[in-house]
Amino acid sequence: MRVLIFGGSFDPPHRGHAALLLAAANKIRPDKILIVPAYQAPLKDSPQASSDARLAMTGLGILDQLPLKWRKISRIDAREARARRRVFTVETLAAVKPGELHFVCGQDSAMSFPKWKDTASLKSLAAWWYGSRPGIAGRPPAHFRRIPGQFPSISSTEIRSRLALDQDCSKELLPAVSAFIDRNRLYGKGVLASLKSTLSPNRYEHTLNVAALAESLARRWGADPVKARLAGLLHDAGRRYSPREMSAYAERRRLEVPERAAILELSPMLLHAHISEDLARREFGISDPEVLRAIKRHTLGDRRLGLLDRILYVADACSLDRGHASAPSTRALAFSDLDAALKLCVREKISHALCHESWLHPLTIALWNFLARR
Ligand SMILES: [Fe+2]
Ligand SMILES: [Fe+2]
Repeated sequence: MRVLIFGGSFDPPHRGHAALLLAAANKIRPDKILIVPAYQAPLKDSPQASSDARLAMTGLGILDQLPLKWRKISRIDAREARARRRVFTVETLAAVKPGELHFVCGQDSAMSFPKWKDTASLKSLAAWWYGSRPGIAGRPPAHFRRIPGQFPSISSTEIRSRLALDQDCSKELLPAVSAFIDRNRLYGKGVLASLKSTLSPNRYEHTLNVAALAESLARRWGADPVKARLAGLLHDAGRRYSPREMSAYAERRRLEVPERAAILELSPMLLHAHISEDLARREFGISDPEVLRAIKRHTLGDRRLGLLDRILYVADACSLDRGHASAPSTRALAFSDLDAALKLCVREKISHALCHESWLHPLTIALWNFLARR
């Protein structure tokens, strides 16, 4: 049996994927096609939509274009990942579906092949094909054959970025996929309108400033600008509530907040980061762990912060609307030395709390102690 495996993260699937698969199927003439949305594609950042959502979209976006006999989607990679086995799809399929395997992917994935795991054995398990995309320089390794034709220059990363800005992507996405994204509010779709209607005008303006600064800092320091923008947009979503409502929310949702009892008694406003994270997940459909973690850590901090955490912490503390005297210089410093800017931001936060004789959360103290020792 001749099996065509179409792999990718499909985050989201677009018209370029559909065109490539149709051309590949016509070239290879398989008995069966398996579309395999990877739980996490090799070498890519974690996808932003859950594997279930990507699986559903792939069904809507690509399968409808194919003749009935070829329509099949595989859940194998997601299942394997859940079982915590580090097995790449082709190996898994070779074990469970004996036959002639043909792996098809886009040019960028094909070019990254030398960095995949166990390439020597992978090479022998399947025939390898790629679709070329205008604008990508370089050639994939020699064992890849080209599917005839040029495929639209569409990138899922660009689509995600534009969706987060509420821009139209109907030229790139099939209508059923667009409708699915709208309905499930994936990739930050509809975030702006929702924030505008739930936050005060000042808080909304602050949110836009933080998102813009976080996005610029992400570009400067090599983080994902779309994730940074999303984290910036959603970091204060919980500020729609009063302190009393925040306390009730944390109780109702049983949020796990370190030192929760002390916060509830002394400073319920400190709950807003955890509430924003909870809203990002439940109301805005964000499943990306990096984005969620950055939102959760933007107020209290943590002893060790990842790159996106540090970017959001700094962007929040010195965004354009921040009135304290050192904000402009800290903002400039963040583009030349992010950690030095972070240290200033934490110092400013602690000084402010001490001036007002406020309670300091242990995580903030731990962050300062960590930074002071370096
Ligand atoms: Fe905040
Ligand atoms: Fe904020």
